[in-house]
Amino acid sequence: MYGPTLALAGVDFQVRAGEIHGLLGENGAGKSTLVRILAGAERQDGGELRFFGEQASGGPAERRKAGLAFIHQDLGLFADFSVADNIALSSGFSTRRGLIRQSASESAARAVVDRLGFDCDVTKLVGELPLADQTLVAVCRALAHGARLIVLDEPTAYLEARQVRKLFDILAGLRADGVACVLITHRSEDVLRVCDRVTVLRDGRSVARRSAAQLSEAELIRLITGREDASGNVPRRPGTRPVRRLRMAAENLRGAGFGPLSLEIREGEVLGLCGLADAGQFAVGLALMGDAPLSSGTVALDGRPYQPGSVRTALDAGLGYVPANRTADGLAGGLTAVENVLMSPRGPWWRPLRGRSDRETCQRLLETFRVSPPQADREVMTFSGGNQQKILLAKWLGFDRRLVILNEPSAGVDVGAKADIHRRIRRDCEVNGTAALVITTDFQEIVDLCDRAVVMRRGLAVGNLEASRISADLLTEMAYGGTA
Ligand SMILES: Nc1ncnc2c1ncn2[C@@H]1O[C@H](COP(=O)(O)OP(=O)(O)OP(=O)(O)O)[C@@H](O)[C@H]1O
Ligand SMILES: [Mg+2]
Repeated sequence: MYGPTLALAGVDFQVRAGEIHGLLGENGAGKSTLVRILAGAERQDGGELRFFGEQASGGPAERRKAGLAFIHQDLGLFADFSVADNIALSSGFSTRRGLIRQSASESAARAVVDRLGFDCDVTKLVGELPLADQTLVAVCRALAHGARLIVLDEPTAYLEARQVRKLFDILAGLRADGVACVLITHRSEDVLRVCDRVTVLRDGRSVARRSAAQLSEAELIRLITGREDASGNVPRRPGTRPVRRLRMAAENLRGAGFGPLSLEIREGEVLGLCGLADAGQFAVGLALMGDAPLSSGTVALDGRPYQPGSVRTALDAGLGYVPANRTADGLAGGLTAVENVLMSPRGPWWRPLRGRSDRETCQRLLETFRVSPPQADREVMTFSGGNQQKILLAKWLGFDRRLVILNEPSAGVDVGAKADIHRRIRRDCEVNGTAALVITTDFQEIVDLCDRAVVMRRGLAVGNLEASRISADLLTEMAYGGTA
C-alpha cells in the first residue's frame, strides 16, 4: 500500500535457478513495486518471501550479501562518480591501511567491463556517459559481486539492438552458470527471444505464468492488456501529406561528436534522426537546444535566423525538448504532476501557477495522455516509470511549440501506450503544425512514427529516407554502414 493506493494486491512469483524469467505488465501494473520489495527497499504488507529456500530478511545491504542484485528502472548510479567507483560501491573497495586503492577498483571494474565486452573507460564519470552506457554500467555493477539472482527493471529501454543482443548473450551465459534472472521489459520481442518463463501482472495481481516457448506475440499482448482485441502497436504507414512550409533549416552544423550536418524539417512533419547509440544524433538535439555548443553552422526557424545559445533562448524561440533521461533532466522529482507540466518556462515570461484553471488544464492533459492515475496533485515520482514518461510528453506536446525535439519518446511505456503516444505526436504535428524531431535508437519507432528519417553514422548523415522507403532492416543496414 502507498497510502490509499494498493500497488500490489496478490502476487505469486517464483523464479528457478538458471532461468530467465520475464516479469511483464502494463504501466502501473506493479512490476517496480515488486522489485523494490524483493530488494528490501520497501516492505510488503503481507505474504511470504523466500530466497534460495530461506525466509527473506534484512534490508538492501543484507539481500545484496545474500546473492541478489538489482538494476532499478532509474539505474541508481552516482553521476558524479567514475564507472570504477560506481562498481566498487557495490562490490566493495579494496583498501590498504585504510586508504582506497584506486588502481585496484579500476582493474576490478575493467575485468567486469571486459567480461561484458563493453567498450568503456572506467575512469570516466558516469554522468558523462550516454544513457545506453549507463545501463551497461548498472549491469556491470550487478555482475561484479557474483550475484545468484539478478533482477533487471527495463534494462533495454535505452539500448540499441546490438547492445540488447550482447546483454542477452550475457544473461544466457549466466543461465548456464545457474544464475537466475528476472527481466522486466515492454518489448515483446525481447521476451520471446530470451525468456524461459514469464509472469504477467495486471493491476497488482499475478494473472498468468507461462513458459515462453508456448507463447505467440499476440497472446503475450493479450495476457498483458487483458483485452481480446489488443493488437498492440497499430502498424501505421505515414501517408504523403501536403507539402508545407519549411520550419527549420540547419546547415553545416558542427559540434562535439557530429558534423558537418544539414537538416531540414517542415511544418507538421515528424522527422526521425537515428543511428547507433554513439552516432551523434543525441548531440545534435542538445546543440539545437543550446545545451551544447555548436562550433559552426547556421540555423533558420521559419525563415528567420535562430542562434542556439542557451535553453532559455531555445524555449523563447518556440522549441520544446523531451530528454532521454526523464528522472535526471526531465522531471522535477519533489513536485507534483501539475507543477511539472505547467511550470516549464515555456513562454517568454515565466508565470506562477494560477490555481484551478491550471489544474484543470493539467487534468485534461493527463487524461488525454492516459496517465494512470490521472491525479494532477500527485508527486511526480510516485507515478510508475511509463506514466512519468507520459507526463513528460504532456508537458511539451500539450502546447503550441514550433519544433519539439523528442529523445526516445516511448522509452519505458507499454505497447498500448506506445501506439497512443505515437498518435498524439502525429496529431500534434498535424493540427498545430508543430514539427517533431524524434531522436531514437529504436528503429521500429522510426518505422511506426516518422514521415522521414535521417540516418547518422559517426556524426554524419548517411541517408535520408522518405516514409515509403523506411524499414527497420534498411535503417539498421545504413546505421552499421552496410555491414549488418
Ligand atoms: N511511492 C509511491 N507512492 C504512491 N503510489 C505509488 C508509489 N510508487 C508506485 N505507486 C503506484 O503503484 C502502482 C504500481 O507502480 P509500479 O511503479 O510498480 O508500476 P510498473 O509496473 O513498474 O509500471 P511501469 O511499466 O510504468 O514502470 C501504480 O499505480 C503507482 O502509481
Ligand atoms: Mg516500473
